[in-house]
Amino acid sequence: MEKTALITGGSRGIGLEIVKVFEKHAYKVLAPTREEMDLRDHNSIVAYCEKLDKTIDVIVNNAGINAIATIENLNNEVFQDMIQVNLLAPLTIIQFFKEKMRQNSIGRIVNISSIWSAVSKTGRGGYAATKSAINSITKTLSIELAPNILINAVAPGFVNTELTRQNNSPEEIKNITSSIPMGRLAEPAEIARLVYFLASENNTYITGQTVFIDGGYTCK
Ligand SMILES: NC(=O)c1ccc[n+]([C@@H]2O[C@H](COP(=O)([O-])OP(=O)(O)OC[C@H]3O[C@@H](n4cnc5c(N)ncnc54)[C@H](OP(=O)(O)O)[C@@H]3O)[C@@H](O)[C@H]2O)c1
Repeated sequence: MEKTALITGGSRGIGLEIVKVFEKHAYKVLAPTREEMDLRDHNSIVAYCEKLDKTIDVIVNNAGINAIATIENLNNEVFQDMIQVNLLAPLTIIQFFKEKMRQNSIGRIVNISSIWSAVSKTGRGGYAATKSAINSITKTLSIELAPNILINAVAPGFVNTELTRQNNSPEEIKNITSSIPMGRLAEPAEIARLVYFLASENNTYITGQTVFIDGGYTCK
């Protein structure tokens, strides 16, 4: 039977590759645009979810925002936006579909985290806090949603996307590249393949984990 995957942030970057990999494996993919479901707006999320009459087999909470702000600029508004999009929106979506997913034979959830949940850098405090929190809630939910739903987080390192190019100058990207043991950035498709594995029926026992996919960056 055709399975359905709900993927946020599927318009570009890592999310677009995740959409492609699920489509390649014959999933029906729901990848709402910001106009259809604005993750900054709780009511918009609930309205979108309520309208779906499909059974959701897989949720990939991929969309994320990364406002770089040191302590001087990390005001409540900036921080609250990141908390809403990176943390509360995934939670709202999971809360909405968990019961129906539980009744299915397969229920898989993957939350996209970041290396900044494990290591840090100036200006990443707010973003890192949201990503550490998603790792943490992933652990708790693995217990609460077991045994029918397996939930994991995937924490990419530096990925060759618009977000990375936006947040780092070409010079910085050169320096970053030389600091990664693998000697290169990850390609979005590499992240997508890991997400697909964790969300597939081949994953029968991994749950509650944060899997780092960073070319060895956090191992140094
Ligand atoms: N790129 C990296 O190196 C990297 C590293 C570690 C972790 N990550 C994480 O990986 C995930 C994807 O990152 P990316 O680099 O692929 O990001 P990206 O290229 O900036 O794309 C972000 C996606 O999220 C969507 N989005 C943002 N705010 C939204 C909102 N309010 N409502 C609905 N959709 C919204 C965007 O939609 P629009 O097209 O409408 O803007 C877009 O599809 C994020 O969670 C990020 O934190 C990325």
